[in-house]
Amino acid sequence: MADDAVILSSPVAVAAALAGMSPDERARWRTADVPARPSPAERNLDIPFPFGWFPALLSDELKAGEVKPLRYLGQDLVIWRGEDGRARMLDAHCRHLGAHMGYGGRVIGAHLECPFHAWRYDGEGVVHDIPYA
Ligand code: FES
Repeated sequence: MADDAVILSSPVAVAAALAGMSPDERARWRTADVPARPSPAERNLDIPFPFGWFPALLSDELKAGEVKPLRYLGQDLVIWRGEDGRARMLDAHCRHLGAHMGYGGRVIGAHLECPFHAWRYDGEGVVHDIPYA
């Protein structure tokens, strides 16, 4: 097997490979087809839910206080890094009226504030503050 044909399967190997890529290269990598990929049954992973590691961003792609929209696994997601340095991710759509919090959402402490009516969510999706309530 040629060196460039090595299949990256461990999270550490994948992270090392991603760290050497430009943002555009990482975006292409995330959505590329995997040639000759064995089926879940061939890998003895025929289980009824997604299984594996799905890197969303490298740590240095998300600064403290930053919010980004993501689309993975057919879902709109929002990821943010709280002022405490921890990254968190939720379904992108606010439970109130469905605003996409990846566009205009802002970080308040460790929470994500919706851009429409300022409901504030923690990383588990629990609403901690509704300003007008
Ligand atoms: S739509 Fe998010 S707070 Fe109203």
